[in-house]
Amino acid sequence: MKIKSYSNAEVDSCRKAGKITATILDELNNIIKEGITTSEIDEFCLTRIQELGGTPAPLFYRGFPKSTCTSLNHVICHGIPNYNRNLQKGDILNVDVTTIIDGWHGDSSRMYKVGEVSVKANNLCKVTHDCLIESIDEIKVGEPINRIGKKIEDIATSNNFSVVRDFCGHGVGLKFHENPSILHYYDSEYDNIRFIDGMIFTIEPMINAGKYQSKILSDGWTAVTKDKTLSAQYEHTIYINGDNVEILTESQNKAFYN
Ligand code: MF3
Ligand code: CO
Ligand code: CO
Repeated sequence: MKIKSYSNAEVDSCRKAGKITATILDELNNIIKEGITTSEIDEFCLTRIQELGGTPAPLFYRGFPKSTCTSLNHVICHGIPNYNRNLQKGDILNVDVTTIIDGWHGDSSRMYKVGEVSVKANNLCKVTHDCLIESIDEIKVGEPINRIGKKIEDIATSNNFSVVRDFCGHGVGLKFHENPSILHYYDSEYDNIRFIDGMIFTIEPMINAGKYQSKILSDGWTAVTKDKTLSAQYEHTIYINGDNVEILTESQNKAFYN
């Protein structure tokens, strides 16, 4: 499999795209509150992406109708922003933002809690964040890429949660999605695909409180848990720069749970 590799100087625009995405995800901490709809959140993101000089990658991507994905409670991913429902206390929401700058993509998502959430929801979000952050420590040039999935599966299952199998991380850069697929569970078939210097990819574990199975709603996009249990996701875009593993979408504000 051909995996693309980029030089330090080449990724400057990708760094910029990642930074804008992170800034907007930071700003959402002040926007997401009881009563707001996911379409209003989407409008905020579109406005800010444009103000900061970017374009939203999801808009019209394979027919997707909005600028971000907003995935509420038992929605795993690819939720379509809408005006149908006002957020309520206890909701957990993933917002997935991808900004394009000069053709380069910065793809990241985080969970937002509306008011106080259940102990279960809180724990699910924390464990999912741990899965992302601890799997980043597994990245090393020459090591098998499936160390990521192994780590994530270990953490999720030891907390009695499950790892979604139908969606994965991906190479990213001048395309939104490209090789390699980054699985969030362990598959020995991939033992010989290794991290290379200069690669850019996402890790975006989707962790369910119940079983891992998913289904897609009749809108053709929204992926939900089959058993209707809660699902959480965090995502970063990562660049391997020799011994440095750069998180291109790292929060610009250390005070945030990023
Ligand atoms: N941002 C998502 C990802 O992490 C992809 C969304 S595709 C869309 O890969 F069409 F739904 F926007
Ligand atoms: Co992604
Ligand atoms: Co994304």
